Amino acid sequence: MIKIPRVKSKDLLSVTDFSKEEIISIFELSKKLKDELKQGKINSYLKGKTLGMIFEKTSTRTRVSFEVAMFQLGGYALFLSRDDIQLGRGETVADTAKVLSRYLDGIMIRCYAHETAIELAQNSTIPVINGLTDMFHPCQALADFFTIYESNRNFKNVKLAFVGDGNNVAQSLMLTAAMLGVDFALACPKGYYPKKEVVEQAFSIASKSGSVITLTSDIALAIESATHLYTDVWVSMGQEKEASRRKKDFAKYKITKKILDKCSSDCKVMHCLPAHRGEEITDDVIDSPQSIVLDQAENRMHVQKAILCTLMK
Ligand code: CP
Ligand code: NVA
Repeated sequence: MIKIPRVKSKDLLSVTDFSKEEIISIFELSKKLKDELKQGKINSYLKGKTLGMIFEKTSTRTRVSFEVAMFQLGGYALFLSRDDIQLGRGETVADTAKVLSRYLDGIMIRCYAHETAIELAQNSTIPVINGLTDMFHPCQALADFFTIYESNRNFKNVKLAFVGDGNNVAQSLMLTAAMLGVDFALACPKGYYPKKEVVEQAFSIASKSGSVITLTSDIALAIESATHLYTDVWVSMGQEKEASRRKKDFAKYKITKKILDKCSSDCKVMHCLPAHRGEEITDDVIDSPQSIVLDQAENRMHVQKAILCTLMK
């Protein structure tokens, strides 16, 4: 039987809810669960448990990977579109949390305001997992660092360079890098840097872990000696009205073959997906042999299984 790690936090709203040691044990469990699945072993670590999945925004990877993860662990996942439940007609988040806590064993929520996820967690007696808010995407960042960990077995000499918007994905990656002692550089246009409080939190964590965090508008500086190049869309869900301004402001901040060729030939290309091909990344980069975007997408499921087992067992 696999050993399930113990974590202090009831919920996963941001990667900082876990300690560095807890993250590493979740990675070890992810690896074991992934290996078991590849060997065709059936396990039922969450037999009889039900996860409710509330979605205010659309999703392919998060919805499917959580749902399949619960099925493969012997449990059940319930898709709850915000518009199909009373939350969409004005029932409070607190009442929703209290009621769902009487039926379910865990909740995954994808919503706009991060405060909604916090309020849900505060009013639930069961674990709440952030499946993306405007502020953070912790499951994505954990799966991404697991993808790096899986091939390197440690984080020595890793430098993750993110070119693009200082958005939810960038903020979670920056915090995770700081916790794991990984160097992180973000190149983005002025006005699109991560939120001040997240930057301060990352710098404070990095001062103890030793990771070097660089925020710049200079792409060449950010990608210098990068081992991993990462990008995400210029227009995140909920920012559709800003699309034309953002497309102008970000025009230079894309990963092209020319940018990739400035990095070492074993530098890996990462993207959380969905990609807007031709905008933040070109086809010849995302489809290149250096791209590990599909490994990232696959690992969402393995890492989320480890998170589900850890929080819901
Ligand atoms: N990366 C990610 O969260 O993808 P979805 O929006 O498809 O869930
Ligand atoms: N930053 C993107 C990530 C999608 C997975 C968004 O929030 O739309």
